[in-house]
Amino acid sequence: MSWWSRFFPQKEQYFRPVILVTGASSGIGLALAKRLMLETRYRIVITAREGSIERLRGILPEGDRFWIHALDVTDEEQRQRLVRDIDERWGGVNVLVNNAGISYRAVVEDMTDEDERRQMATNYFGPMGLIRLVLPNMRERGRGKIINISSVSGMMAMPTMASYSASKYALEGASEALWYETKPFGIDVVLVQPGFIRSRSFENVYYTEKSKPEVSFEGPYQDYYRNMIPFVGRMMNRAWATPDSVANLVLKAIKAQNPPLWIPATIDASVFYYLRRLLPRRLLLPALFYLLPKARTWGRRFTNKRLT
Ligand SMILES: NC(=O)c1ccc[n+]([C@@H]2O[C@H](COP(=O)([O-])OP(=O)(O)OC[C@H]3O[C@@H](n4cnc5c(N)ncnc54)[C@H](OP(=O)(O)O)[C@@H]3O)[C@@H](O)[C@H]2O)c1
Repeated sequence: MSWWSRFFPQKEQYFRPVILVTGASSGIGLALAKRLMLETRYRIVITAREGSIERLRGILPEGDRFWIHALDVTDEEQRQRLVRDIDERWGGVNVLVNNAGISYRAVVEDMTDEDERRQMATNYFGPMGLIRLVLPNMRERGRGKIINISSVSGMMAMPTMASYSASKYALEGASEALWYETKPFGIDVVLVQPGFIRSRSFENVYYTEKSKPEVSFEGPYQDYYRNMIPFVGRMMNRAWATPDSVANLVLKAIKAQNPPLWIPATIDASVFYYLRRLLPRRLLLPALFYLLPKARTWGRRFTNKRLT
């Protein structure tokens, strides 16, 4: 190395973090990908499942520092191949954004074991598998960031979303433990917690055989489905937060020196956080229950409830 390049390194020798974002074909992931494209100091890998890759390439052109790679987060082999490819091309992942996620809309009784497995595989096992793959490299380099997109559902559960909530509670619990485990190695862990967002994402929800509207609108939980589905849709349509506003927060966390573990990403996320802490436990759930639309009458025509 010449004395000149030792003191005045060429541009390529500066640290150019490699950011991996999962689930970038729509919603928050796509908004984040578009924001990151403008940040020329980063090298970016965005992913979606095989079926969405061509559409994604049509929206965002690939280039020297912008790479689109197929990934189904539930597939261990694909996770390994992706991280291996990034290691070979750019020397490893510096920032992992676990964003890909799905949400089932079904009461507990209407889920099957297979549905539960799919929910957990996408929102919990997949992200944890990726974390395990990128950690050794981050530890070796003494820096790195793991940003998990959680949800208000990871601090507060709602009827018809039990399994989704369980997956986000799991992600929250594991991330909290990971925060302690990686701190000494210079690796930050962040949970971004969006609540209701103004987007079309509620159209991507998964229904089970028993929770499909054609079936569930006739069954014993019909009041739950008839009220919760439009309620969630209304709340999302009226929300102030957007995929862009959440993406901006994620970008802030990427740039921050010591980001906090929890970042509420919408107003309702902050409100629910404080409600949970301030309201006495005996009041919390009954109060929230009666705030849900027509909840006083839910299940009335189907109940055989008796005094114990
Ligand atoms: N929107 C909200 O109101 C809201 C609120 C709180 C939290 N969140 C969380 O924010 C994150 C993003 O949500 P969003 O609303 O932006 O969702 P979205 O618009 O439905 O996008 C989900 C993304 O995840 C990808 N994905 C789904 N299953 C996958 C799999 N098995 N492997 C790889 N990619 C997969 C989808 O890609 P494909 O094209 O391959 O399907 C898509 O790119 C999720 O973790 C969600 O739980 C969202």
